[in-house]
Amino acid sequence: MKRILLPAASLALALAALPAAASGDAENGKALFYTCTGCHGIEDYKNAYPTYRVPKVGGQNEAYLVAALAAYKKGERKHPTMQAQAESFSDQEIADIAAYLSSVKKQK
Ligand code: HEC
Repeated sequence: MKRILLPAASLALALAALPAAASGDAENGKALFYTCTGCHGIEDYKNAYPTYRVPKVGGQNEAYLVAALAAYKKGERKHPTMQAQAESFSDQEIADIAAYLSSVKKQK
């Protein structure tokens, strides 16, 4: 599979282009994130099949999470699963998920 690994650069651009983040509803975000925990189990950032690690999303900066999900949604950042996930969300739902994840305390 061909993958271009420039997430840091594209995220920096996305962040720079981002208007003041819309405030999200963390409660709704928590409900939406339920389907993500199969891969993003927050405790040790491992896939449910612990064969590969996933990026840490719990406790991340809110604007960073919004930018990451928006980039997948727009196809600027390529990853089959994450694009499929992000495409199903509205901008408000992305803000909600980011509000929830950024509120999660760092674990371990
Ligand atoms: C099938 C496994 C899987 C599922 C389900 C999944 N993710 Fe991911 N996620 C990944 C992988 C693998 C990556 C790293 C992809 C890459 O290299 O761009 C990732 C990346 C991310 C990132 C970017 C993190 C960073 O630091 O750049 C965010 C944010 C994220 N996922 C949120 C979610 C949310 C929210 C959901 C649920 C709606 C979800 N993921 C569902 C596997 C998954």
